[in-house]
Amino acid sequence: MSRKGIILAGGLGTRMYPLTIATSKQLLPIYDKPMIFYPLSILINSGIKEILIISTVEHIDLFKKLFGNGKELGILIDYKVQKEPKGIAQAIILAERFLKKSDFCLILGDNIIFGDDNEISKKLHEAFISRNATIFSKSVKFPEKYGVASFKKNKLIKLIEKPKKFISNQAIVGLYFYPNSAVKESKKLKFSKRGELEITDLNNIYIKKNKMNILSLSKKIFWYDAGSHKDYYKVTKKVYDFQLKFKKSIANIHELVFKKKYINKKIFRQNILKYSKSSYGDYLKK
Ligand code: TTP
Repeated sequence: MSRKGIILAGGLGTRMYPLTIATSKQLLPIYDKPMIFYPLSILINSGIKEILIISTVEHIDLFKKLFGNGKELGILIDYKVQKEPKGIAQAIILAERFLKKSDFCLILGDNIIFGDDNEISKKLHEAFISRNATIFSKSVKFPEKYGVASFKKNKLIKLIEKPKKFISNQAIVGLYFYPNSAVKESKKLKFSKRGELEITDLNNIYIKKNKMNILSLSKKIFWYDAGSHKDYYKVTKKVYDFQLKFKKSIANIHELVFKKKYINKKIFRQNILKYSKSSYGDYLKK
């Protein structure tokens, strides 16, 4: 079964101003790596080897400079411009040519997920092999800030964007697995009041058809949406603390692809050399 990946790294990033006036939010550092390494590590972890990065006209070349065609990582990376941020579901339509007939996984470029590696790998695998669409939820303190899952007798019945009234504490994570039919379904969506093709509308279609799985992430998994100053600071601190405590490098994509045997020893050694002056490279060497 083939499954491709999309990282959504466009948007205006106005909540992060002035940090994002001159650069892309998804390139800001989360401690020792650019933010986009984190969602990329989730796609690699899922077993996906062909990835499309979608970003703005101004920033797309910066991502090309960072990853090139993906050779250093033993994967294929392609690029697509989204002229205006007209919604997460619009990105799926933009990816049509890249996807061809493949099923896919879409992850938001500012979503950072880490923690218990076993649980993450198991749940990603479950989503990867399913013929249904899959979304992930996480219990949060302030559900009114997120897309939230509504349940009836434990059955998922609907997602509601930023609910004013309490419906559940299960926020929807910016990581979605879809069958290829999501391209066709996205084309049928109408623009919302805020002028976007809404991912929540797409997800509700799959829920209605009974073709949506929802996997809840446990307390052992950390999930951050690094879209505001406070959350950006919180995740940076958490990554620093976690790495120090567990002597691990989170989202170390070079380590990941070597372990997955996407690159051979020779390329791995070249990577170590390239990063040798940084703690990122020190870790690879160890
Ligand atoms: P948002 O949080 O909606 O976008 P943003 O963070 O750029 O917005 P703001 O101006 O409020 O700060 O989007 C979540 C992620 O999805 C983020 O990584 C940007 C990306 N995105 C796109 O690439 N294209 C789009 O059309 C939208 C809506 C989002």
